[in-house]
Amino acid sequence: MDFGGKYNRKNLILLGSTGSIGTQTLSVVEKWPQYFKVAALAAGSNVKLLEEQARKFKPGFISLAQKEGAEELRKRLRDTSVKVLCGEEGLWEIASTPEADWVVNALVGFDGLKPTVAALQEGKNIALANKETLVAGGELIMNLAEEKGVTIVPIDSEHSAIFQCLQGENWERVSKIVLTASGGPFRGCTLKELSKVTLAQALEHPNWVMGKKITIDSATLMNKGLEVLEAQILFGLDLDQIEVVVHPQSIIHSMVEFIDGSVKAQLGVPDMGVPIQFALTYPDRWPSSFERVNWRETERLSFEMPDMDSFRCLKLAYEAGKIGGTMPAAMNAANERAVELFLADRISFLDIPRIIEETMHKHKVISCPSLSDIIDVDREVREQKIL
Ligand SMILES: NC(=O)c1ccc[n+]([C@@H]2O[C@H](COP(=O)([O-])OP(=O)(O)OC[C@H]3O[C@@H](n4cnc5c(N)ncnc54)[C@H](OP(=O)(O)O)[C@@H]3O)[C@@H](O)[C@H]2O)c1
Repeated sequence: MDFGGKYNRKNLILLGSTGSIGTQTLSVVEKWPQYFKVAALAAGSNVKLLEEQARKFKPGFISLAQKEGAEELRKRLRDTSVKVLCGEEGLWEIASTPEADWVVNALVGFDGLKPTVAALQEGKNIALANKETLVAGGELIMNLAEEKGVTIVPIDSEHSAIFQCLQGENWERVSKIVLTASGGPFRGCTLKELSKVTLAQALEHPNWVMGKKITIDSATLMNKGLEVLEAQILFGLDLDQIEVVVHPQSIIHSMVEFIDGSVKAQLGVPDMGVPIQFALTYPDRWPSSFERVNWRETERLSFEMPDMDSFRCLKLAYEAGKIGGTMPAAMNAANERAVELFLADRISFLDIPRIIEETMHKHKVISCPSLSDIIDVDREVREQKIL
């Protein structure tokens, strides 16, 4: 499709290009070569895929977290003009490169915070998938975005749904938002059943194919907890205005209730391509060939309340949000550490909420934290003896 000169080509920086969101972002970009140019790419350790992406999209810079990987990439890309950077410094340099005015943050975990700050300081708009950034550094990020006058467009499907429902609306007329949750692979399980679940079972999400960390977060419902805090920050709401409802079909991506009782929802098949494309083309909407909802085959849309006694992570996230300050950052760090250990098969599924709860009990909250306070809290929690 040609928009007849309506749009200038957007220069993008993509952080986390080799992951689930990163690769889906490049699939959207690939469809619109006349409208998107990839200025820079960053990834963690996947040398092979980053090399392929660099050859295909021809960015000026790329960065890899690991030094050895970056050395290897430099050798492999000797015949090109692509500059290969590495580590935290490389990520910072890429996020603030003047060559682009949009950053897609598809990094996983707390590692996404500093590059987001770097990009905001340079006045870049952000298409944000990395929810941990807002959970850990929410106020700081939103204040910086306001100060620099930049736009943050959510990619997370629930937040994209809310953002889409709010287009053309006065945000002060919202009475509450309803975040939908699939319930994950263990919906309906008792605590006794949860005590026996395996890593392989937890990695089998019923509706979405995603990176490993978010897949485990979805199984514990911490993903929904992180999303509650993400929504609180992004839309400036009180926690009691955010409700979670389990909707196993994942067709309704979330809803907004307004002060007159009217409810708007955004629906679609579960495919992250839709919110990714919306974020890249915002404030317009472009055509796509993503699968459509087949209403003839959609017999029912059902809803139930989440079981916060068996899935304690969701309750803990609400508690962290109520306490505020550095508590969400401490909770997030404990969750990341616990999920790492679970993925390494070193702890059980129910150890995850236990570790988070113990961390939260011990944590001494700092109110109105600076970036260095948040970084210190994250490091201290990761360094604490867990096993
Ligand atoms: N996947 C989804 O459908 C989905 C939906 C909604 C929201 N989200 C959110 O989007 C974010 C990304 O999720 P994902 O599922 O795409 O994760 P993922 O598949 O694990 O991908 C993470 C990406 O970050 C890179 N990375 C990790 N550590 C890095 C570091 N220190 N420096 C540079 N790059 C690093 C990885 O590189 P390597 O692979 O090369 O190591 C990879 O490219 C998460 O915050 C998640 O909660 C995801």
